[in-house]
Amino acid sequence: MNIMIIGGGGREHVITKLIARNQNVSKIYALPGNGGISKFAECVKISAEDIDTITSFAKTHEIDFAVVAPDDPLALGAVDRLEAEGVKCFGPSKNAALIEGSKVFAKELMTKYNIPTAKYEVFTELDKALSYAALSDCPIVIKADGLAKGKGVTVAENFQQAREAIMSCMKDKAFGHSGERILIEECLTGKEVTVLAFTDGKTIVPMVSSMDHKRAYDGNKGPNTGGMGVIAPNPYYTQTIADECMRTIFLPTVEAMKKEGRMFKGCLYFGLMLTDKGPKVIEYNCRFGDPEAEAVLPLMESDLLDVMIAVRDERLADVPVKFKEKASCCVVCASSGYPGTYLTGYPIDFGNAEEIEGVDVFHAGTKNEEGKYYTSGGRVLAVNAVSSDLESAREKAYEAVKCINFEGMRYRTDIGSL
Ligand code: AMP
Ligand code: GLY
Repeated sequence: MNIMIIGGGGREHVITKLIARNQNVSKIYALPGNGGISKFAECVKISAEDIDTITSFAKTHEIDFAVVAPDDPLALGAVDRLEAEGVKCFGPSKNAALIEGSKVFAKELMTKYNIPTAKYEVFTELDKALSYAALSDCPIVIKADGLAKGKGVTVAENFQQAREAIMSCMKDKAFGHSGERILIEECLTGKEVTVLAFTDGKTIVPMVSSMDHKRAYDGNKGPNTGGMGVIAPNPYYTQTIADECMRTIFLPTVEAMKKEGRMFKGCLYFGLMLTDKGPKVIEYNCRFGDPEAEAVLPLMESDLLDVMIAVRDERLADVPVKFKEKASCCVVCASSGYPGTYLTGYPIDFGNAEEIEGVDVFHAGTKNEEGKYYTSGGRVLAVNAVSSDLESAREKAYEAVKCINFEGMRYRTDIGSL
């Protein structure tokens, strides 16, 4: 089989690595891929958002199966276009991807189908949003409606912060059209859990749970990022909670999307808060999380490509989806300045990191030039260790991180220290 992976981050690196193990795979192309992915796939300089060029590439290269991993091409309808040309895909259609592409749509869906979530109001006018925020008890949460590269959410501790977030979305248009409509939400408290789940629109199979660390600095301080590290499984996510989530959130979401004529096929991401009134949805994503994928997928025992094909063919109920009874700890090494502005192009010294048992160094933002690796993004590497338990996974991940070096490298030292 010829496989095409769309995307070029750490998530696509782990997906490519696992797919490369499947005996039926003869060739993998990654569009655009990255330095690490180039070990397993031919990287082709086509942007993940250039759907026209991706579609013609798939046809000329006789692609049998495509994985569309990032949110932008999914929201732009990459899966619809490829499937229309006869290319089978893992990933939701454009109308199902709206569950991530519009937070207002997701909220209205949850309200309509009684899926537990935070209370909210929607605003399209700056003055009304500001007056509402002024009258609200802080903390409150300000969210841009559309996609904002993981940066469109502000948990405002006081009115001043809320005001800045609202102005930045609605007046300064920091997120372009994505912030023209905003949500102001009740702030939930509790432990956060991410659950990624395979679904073919009929059956839903959750993967091992995880815990992202979204804030930039130790102690959950600083701005939100795309994610600075992950542990899996999430120690707070008990079997009783998992059963409750299946009943009140997972199955009702799949059912709701089907009823709305937006059958969801692919990986559905549930960002949950375990509140004292039960688990509630903070957000949905229409894809594997990044860096959650780098911690969760290495624990997968079943063949990833076989499961992806079963999802596409709507026969998920017939395939085994098994995970190892082990733990992962994944630490992101970022460029100095991330999630703000940062410089790239620095050489990366990996030391002996990849020789440590159970360690994978996934490349998030790197490029390979004549066999040497250089930084090319904000999040540069996602260093994951799999071990028998969380504590030893954590030790190994940090042992590996300490072997690695590049100019300005920064990482959180408290991933998984509960
Ligand atoms: P999101 O981009 O929607 O995942 O939001 C980023 C982060 O903001 C989440 O991981 C939470 O930590 C926080 N957050 C979002 N919505 C809420 C909420 N309603 N209450 C408390 N925290 C929230
Ligand atoms: N790590 C959060 C996300 O992928 O949206």
